[in-house]
Amino acid sequence: MPQKKITEVVVGDILSEDVRASNGRFLFKKGTILTQKHILVLKTWGVSRVFVEENPKEEKKIEKKQGNEKQDRFIKCFPPNSTKLSPMKDLYFIATKLVPKHLKTINLPLDILKKTDTGKKVILPPRLKISPEKLVDSQKELCSLPSIYQKMMDVLNDPNASAANIGEVVSKDPSLTAKLLRIANSPHLGLISKVQTVSRAISILGIDHLKLLAKGVIIIEGFKKIPVEIMDMKQFWKHSIAVGLMASLLSSHRVGMVTEKFFVAGLLHDIGKLVMLVAMPGIYLNIMLCAKDEKVCLHEAEKRILGFDHGDIGAILSEKWYFPSSLTEMIKTHHDPEKSDMSEDAAILYISDILAQVSFYGFGGNIFIPYLSKDVVEISGIDPSCYDIVATTFFKQIKMLEKIFL
Ligand SMILES: [Fe+2]
Ligand SMILES: [Fe+2]
Repeated sequence: MPQKKITEVVVGDILSEDVRASNGRFLFKKGTILTQKHILVLKTWGVSRVFVEENPKEEKKIEKKQGNEKQDRFIKCFPPNSTKLSPMKDLYFIATKLVPKHLKTINLPLDILKKTDTGKKVILPPRLKISPEKLVDSQKELCSLPSIYQKMMDVLNDPNASAANIGEVVSKDPSLTAKLLRIANSPHLGLISKVQTVSRAISILGIDHLKLLAKGVIIIEGFKKIPVEIMDMKQFWKHSIAVGLMASLLSSHRVGMVTEKFFVAGLLHDIGKLVMLVAMPGIYLNIMLCAKDEKVCLHEAEKRILGFDHGDIGAILSEKWYFPSSLTEMIKTHHDPEKSDMSEDAAILYISDILAQVSFYGFGGNIFIPYLSKDVVEISGIDPSCYDIVATTFFKQIKMLEKIFL
């Protein structure tokens, strides 16, 4: 039963316990419906608190008020006046109704960025004259991966490497082997039989897919430990894994899609940001703050200031690592699927990125949820009515995947 301060008691409250004054004098019995007169007597006798019955109407009012406050917080993340019609309405439903059921604490992007935001006015540098290729070249060491992984990458990139060669090299690294087997056995890949060895994984998934997964895992390992002060790297990787899982789940709604390719594309889609963060941390922080002040998406602010975005950088890296050209194209155009040669794949990755953002799982530096147009939905070939099924499955599987990677 709630205890109320006498100043909070209102006419109509029902006493849930007898009330006595501090000297022991009996005042009112349990069940009394308080009137203005009762409240005056209680105050006169110096009663500071009373037990009252729960008032369902009032409880509901408080719940509704808290719900509205939460919704107000969420709506700030969406483009203005965008949440009334599908597909943005479907995304808003996930953010406000589905996510609170699965996440105890929801960190909104604005709150996360506040930690690095000094509040000073952002002074933007004049448009920088650097090409994306030069930027990648300036970070040779970072982009060529630590030497322990280089050998594995050489075998994985060798078109003549047999399943046995790959199994042998990968098995030399117990942590990589364990990770690959756990990914191969995770429900999102939908394999029925249990995979216990790399060679078995190759025979089930196929050599190309296993190569792709292994490369994705290696690259994340190589990039995981880079010191980046202005971005919470745990949040960054959580976002990347979230997009990987969303892309894998979403693509399974289309017949003939290779879910592993989408998984790896999701894992690596924002990798270009890391090169930018390492190469020019000060400038990149300003780009993030500029995106916040101007209420635009991060890649738009990048384009304004640099003339290219992290998709361009990611695509150069993807080429360098000999990923299939379709994957490179997806990474390059994940913010601009309509301009892509592989527009259907890029649209699925774009929607997966947005779904990860409306799930508030991790943080990739973007404050505002990008606008999802009907055209992009149409290009993806996936009906928005399945977004909530994808998001529900996502929350069942994401913790396990996070444990594998982080
Ligand atoms: Fe991105
Ligand atoms: Fe992203």
